[in-house]
Amino acid sequence: MAELAEQHIIAPYDSAWYRKGCDLRRQVFMQEQGVSLEDEFDGRDPNATHMVSVQDGNVVGVLRILWLPEHAKIGRFAVAQSRRNEGIGSRLLQTALGFIERQGQERIMLEAQIDRINFYEHFGFEAYGEEYLDAGILHRAMKNY
Ligand SMILES: CC(C)(COP(=O)(O)OP(=O)(O)OC[C@H]1O[C@@H](n2cnc3c(N)ncnc32)[C@H](O)[C@@H]1OP(=O)(O)O)[C@@H](O)C(=O)NCCC(=O)NCCS
Repeated sequence: MAELAEQHIIAPYDSAWYRKGCDLRRQVFMQEQGVSLEDEFDGRDPNATHMVSVQDGNVVGVLRILWLPEHAKIGRFAVAQSRRNEGIGSRLLQTALGFIERQGQERIMLEAQIDRINFYEHFGFEAYGEEYLDAGILHRAMKNY
């Protein structure tokens, strides 16, 4: 099968691509992982940068970037369940890291679900601090600085 073209799109808040990204967030975080609506849509989306990975018109990956004073924070990172372990997440994360650095922010952090720590280590992140529960899931903070 020919490889599908993949685009990484910055989706303005409330745009059609943003809303398609939200559909994927609902599927992954709410339906698959049991996160509540209030936790998933926490009121910070309007001030975030949203990025989607699109193949053949379909959103297959999503993440958001929060611009905090001390660092940029990557979160709400998900790939469609049937499309994992194909590199979609790695490529989208790499694009987001490059984008953040081009905005002049080199300090990036994220809150990793415990079983994903190894994945983020490949991108230069190191875990720090204690484990904690967020939306019922064990997490640890990671940063690249
Ligand atoms: C975390 C998540 C976004 C990663 O997306 P993904 O598209 O599966 O990520 P990738 O395919 O790039 O990488 C996943 C693994 O597959 C491997 N991989 C990458 N390309 C591959 C390929 N072509 N063939 C086989 N394996 C591949 C990667 O090396 C990686 O291995 P590792 O976990 O041992 O480091 C995805 O698992 C997900 O949506 N999980 C549910 C939501 C979630 O937990 N979000 C993160 C919260 S911290």
